[in-house]
Amino acid sequence: MIVKKPPMGWNTWNTFGEKINEQIVKESTDAFVELGLKDYGYEYIVIDDCWSERTRDAVTDRIVADHIKFPNGMKAVGDYIHSKGLKFGMYSCTGVRTCADYPGSFDHEYLDAETFAEWGVDFLKYDNCYKPKTADCQLLYHRMGIALENCGRDILYSACNWGTEDVWTWIRSTGAHMYRSTGDIFDSFQSYKDIAMSQVNKFGYSAENCYNDIDMLTVGMNGSGNVGRGGCTDAEYRQQFVLWCMYCAPLMLGCDIRSISAESKALVTNRELIAIDQDEANRPPIWQHHPWNENLKVAFKHLANGEYAIAFYNFSDNDAGIPAMFELFGIPSNSGYKLALTDVFTGEKIGEFKDYINVKVATHDVKLYKAKLVK
Ligand code: GLA
Repeated sequence: MIVKKPPMGWNTWNTFGEKINEQIVKESTDAFVELGLKDYGYEYIVIDDCWSERTRDAVTDRIVADHIKFPNGMKAVGDYIHSKGLKFGMYSCTGVRTCADYPGSFDHEYLDAETFAEWGVDFLKYDNCYKPKTADCQLLYHRMGIALENCGRDILYSACNWGTEDVWTWIRSTGAHMYRSTGDIFDSFQSYKDIAMSQVNKFGYSAENCYNDIDMLTVGMNGSGNVGRGGCTDAEYRQQFVLWCMYCAPLMLGCDIRSISAESKALVTNRELIAIDQDEANRPPIWQHHPWNENLKVAFKHLANGEYAIAFYNFSDNDAGIPAMFELFGIPSNSGYKLALTDVFTGEKIGEFKDYINVKVATHDVKLYKAKLVK
């Protein structure tokens, strides 16, 4: 299975944690359809940890669905998701137990892949807790990779070892289509900012068929739910979403989409932003760091159509002017070129600029421009 764009969808973990059940998944699937998310490229509904019984079936050794949370079994959930034209994601783990202490797939990889295929699973998030010290992390990801490739169904393989063991250097070889590169996100400015900044020099490894995954988005959570921690302002959610899109990171929503605000919905369905995320050139941005204020950053990205995207991030606690020197992006003064800038959020034509620009950005906010080279 070849995955040509950063995957997009929704995952239960950020909002619901272990409080998941069939009704929540069905309601969220319905909300997904009502919001029209599929039209924007979102397609996976992923059930994270805590969906199974605490022990495997004594006779078959298979993982079984929690009979209270999912009384009709997982295939029925998958059938419902498929009946709405969407794809069905599930979760397991390299270790003997999952991170929340349910059965893991260690030494059961082939059996579990077969089970997932029987249930109609299209996406597997594969976590990394509780593996025996004698077991090699890379080998365990290979094992599940091969098990999935041979289970008789196309299943997108989403590895999740949180960036340990220099994952970017070997994960593509395991068959994984995306790989978590950081610890867990929480719904706060500090959390998404630290996560995004930890990957400034790591996105060169992220490309077609194996994408750096910086975790599910918290956009729209507003501090509630399983990973809610004070929440973010709308400006901060804007900043978060632009960070993810400028990286071409997978876009997995994590808020309660049944009650997403109009503001957050508009953000996660902004076609211009999604196009930057899904840009087929999939180039990482280069960064311009302010000489003395580490909280002011500019990211510059080449797009497939010959244009550029430039994001001005203000991580400081004050409104600020953020300078960008075009020379440092490879456009020196003697090239004779200017940049014609358009604001991606408002569509406003900002004008043509030579050599540099200084952009005013409110605290914890972002400005995002598309740029064309003009004489
Ligand atoms: C780990 C992962 C999270 C989530 C939980 C579930 O912490 O990184 O994304 O899947 O496990 O227990």
